[in-house]
Amino acid sequence: MKIDGVAYRSVWVRDDGWSVGIIDQTKLPHAFAMLALTTAADAAHAIRAMQVRGAPLIGAVAAYGLGLQARADASDAALKRAYDELLATRPTAVNLMWALDRVMAALAGLGTQARAAAAYAEAAAIAEDDVATCRAIGRHGLGLIEAAAKRRPADRPVNVLTHCNAGWLATVDWGTALAPIYMAHDAGIPIHVWVDETRPRNQGASLTAWELGKHGVRHTVIADNAGGHLMQHGRVDLCIVGTDRTTAEGDVCNKIGTYLKALAAHDNGVPFYVALPHSTIDWAIGDGVREIPIEERAATEVTEILGRAADGRVTTVTITPPGSAVANFAFDVTPARYVTALITERGVCAASRDGLLGLYPERRPPARAAG
Ligand code: MRU
Repeated sequence: MKIDGVAYRSVWVRDDGWSVGIIDQTKLPHAFAMLALTTAADAAHAIRAMQVRGAPLIGAVAAYGLGLQARADASDAALKRAYDELLATRPTAVNLMWALDRVMAALAGLGTQARAAAAYAEAAAIAEDDVATCRAIGRHGLGLIEAAAKRRPADRPVNVLTHCNAGWLATVDWGTALAPIYMAHDAGIPIHVWVDETRPRNQGASLTAWELGKHGVRHTVIADNAGGHLMQHGRVDLCIVGTDRTTAEGDVCNKIGTYLKALAAHDNGVPFYVALPHSTIDWAIGDGVREIPIEERAATEVTEILGRAADGRVTTVTITPPGSAVANFAFDVTPARYVTALITERGVCAASRDGLLGLYPERRPPARAAG
């Protein structure tokens, strides 16, 4: 994606050929700052502190983290320590484990001398895979926006509501939920995005709004609880969100508050689409509500808010009374019955085991021989 005319990805190998560049997302939208990661511990910190976030991106950064580790010490023990540290950073997005396991599998059987190059190559392949995957998600989702454009009154744009940030900042490029929006905009379809602010960390207000603005996509930031009202008044044509973990039954786990948007969409007959790469599907589980671990984060993410003051200073203020108890659940699960369809790199399918297996037939359990 381009920022002021310059093409960026959200993670890259820097000009020295080994350190890893990221955009520090904790500074957006107030500053566009880049950071260099030089150790696996740096990568773990960046993921934990949410300098990088979004399911596909944390997978790619973790993969490069193993590359950094292999460069410093490629012994089995050191790699296992780095793997455990990186895996423990965030529990909900399954992409993290998927990417780490992919790098470890690429190193299996290699001598220590060969491991660093192999780890970097696998991390680069994961990043390229993500770019191609998100581009394909965009193409499939574009069809849904084109269909909505034909249904809408001619005098207004297609109105899409999204939650959190599932744009290029959350992936390596393009995004998942935002990829179809970028493609629709680029294709000349008039489009407007309702951006949920996404408390407590405000990924919508800070990141999605910034991304869409840089690409020239019309958008309006709304308080998280405004979506239901807009849907009741016919002002949302479709919702598109991302997911951090999708079960084999089609349940989706995404940023806290997504479930409430799905309920409102269901009540108002608004299509609710979830965009996802194959790396987000957890084929080992079916019931998302019971089986997906939900990350709980620091209370300060709820009690404090970061913003730019009138004098230009970026500052944090406290918004709760001292002594109030606080809970900070980072994700919730939307059961498949509230999801109109899943948008994947292989096409659009029903949010169900049959729907997913139709697109990923290689995941079908082998038929048992008779007798
Ligand atoms: O806590 P975050 O900001 O990492 O949560 C991100 C989301 O919930 C995204 O919607 C999800 O990762 C899909 S990203 C393409």
